[in-house]
Amino acid sequence: VTSPQSWSPTEKQEVFLAAEEDEVLFGGAAGGGKSDALIMDALGLGEETPAIQVPTYKGLLIRKTFPQLREIIDRTRLVYPLIDPGATFKEADKVWTFSSGAKVIFGFCERDPDVLQYQGAEFQWIGIDELGHFATPYVYDYLTSRLRSPDKRLSARMRASCNPGPKWIMSKFGIKKDGADSMVTEVVNGKTIRMRFISSKLSDNHHLDGTGYLERLMRLPDVERQQLLDGRWDVYNVPGAIYKDQIDECRAEGRIRPLPYDPLLKVHAIWDLGWNDKTSIILCQKGMSDYRIIGYIEDSHKTLDYYSMLLKERKWNWGDMWLPHDGETRNLQTGRSAKEVLESQGWRVTITPKMDVESGIRAARMAFPQVYFDADKADVLVDHLYNYRRAINAQTGEATSPIHDNHSHGADAFRYLGVVAGQLSNTDWGGKLNYPNLNYA
Ligand SMILES: Nc1ncnc2c1ncn2[C@@H]1O[C@H](COP(=O)(O)OP(=O)(O)OP(=O)(O)O)[C@@H](O)[C@H]1O
Ligand SMILES: [Mg+2]
Repeated sequence: VTSPQSWSPTEKQEVFLAAEEDEVLFGGAAGGGKSDALIMDALGLGEETPAIQVPTYKGLLIRKTFPQLREIIDRTRLVYPLIDPGATFKEADKVWTFSSGAKVIFGFCERDPDVLQYQGAEFQWIGIDELGHFATPYVYDYLTSRLRSPDKRLSARMRASCNPGPKWIMSKFGIKKDGADSMVTEVVNGKTIRMRFISSKLSDNHHLDGTGYLERLMRLPDVERQQLLDGRWDVYNVPGAIYKDQIDECRAEGRIRPLPYDPLLKVHAIWDLGWNDKTSIILCQKGMSDYRIIGYIEDSHKTLDYYSMLLKERKWNWGDMWLPHDGETRNLQTGRSAKEVLESQGWRVTITPKMDVESGIRAARMAFPQVYFDADKADVLVDHLYNYRRAINAQTGEATSPIHDNHSHGADAFRYLGVVAGQLSNTDWGGKLNYPNLNYA
């Protein structure tokens, strides 16, 4: 590492350094200059009075482990003296003290409770490098409670960086699957808090040009390459994943895309029933040689009447309601089965043939190459299918039975689609023939 003569931000780093939102995440592909940006942002040079010139200023920069922290401390030793030649670093406390007396403190939180060492402390700037290393929002949320600025010259800012990672980060910052810039707001106690995501790419950072770094990223395994090189948030490893390869194939072949409702085709509803567990309903049209999932509904603690109403609102060309075999079981209180309730609402109900789970999964896999998903309306289902997985035996490492979790209900409904796929039809059995209106626009 050569010692830089001066430090000037790349264009993307400049956007991050100038951001005024309460909470800002700088994230995405590897090597975009995120850690460097965070190190410099800790100095608050963009404030009207640069933060490190305010004697009471305190910044806190966190990483998960000590060796990781070491890395960024070494980097600060090269760049901080360029900004303030009078700055000194005290190794024992891992604290930089600037000429004014302002401080930037470095810490790590290997286990969640480690963050409690900051109980009672207050900071005007807190940064977490590699937020994705934290499996839950606990440390982040706790640290935001340590942000306070009694000095009017300084704002209180929460900053973080990360590579594509945990779901909780996606939802907190409203990050879209393509990893584009985004912003969400939250109103707490009448105050609007703005949380902004700024995406970064390797190509933003010309300092790595010609270093072979790009080539090293290109040789990574699929998932890591797509995350670290392409900055994608919709790919990740799911140990024991059952349909992940099929979903990857759907994406690669463009089978997840806008799918308009075709009034000439019937819409079939394939149900998995639950009460405490989710009820999941796949809405599917059968084309010449394709299955188009144009809608997906899931909810819990809702009556059949409720789902029936949701479907009727759509005024579609309805086909069958396919209920799992427990759709024929009589409810102990009402004495009626789900099939009877839906039939009384005017739906035509068929019971999905009983098939063991493994055979059902095979049937679903066989149907998969012909399945299309609406990119928006079936998005949640795609997510469930991607995450549907088998338990892994800790001793043998062997994948065993499918796990019953938040993702399994949608996957069960999809398995039933696999079972009945061959029977979906666009004709009205026993009723009048359904002549398509060829003049339909
Ligand atoms: N503005 C800059 N001036 C000079 N060098 C820079 C600048 N920004 C980043 N670098 C250098 O580019 C390399 C990558 O930057 P950095 O480590 O900040 O990227 P990153 O996005 O945090 O990467 P990762 O995803 O691997 O953590 C480092 O060697 C860093 O010192
Ligand atoms: Mg980094």
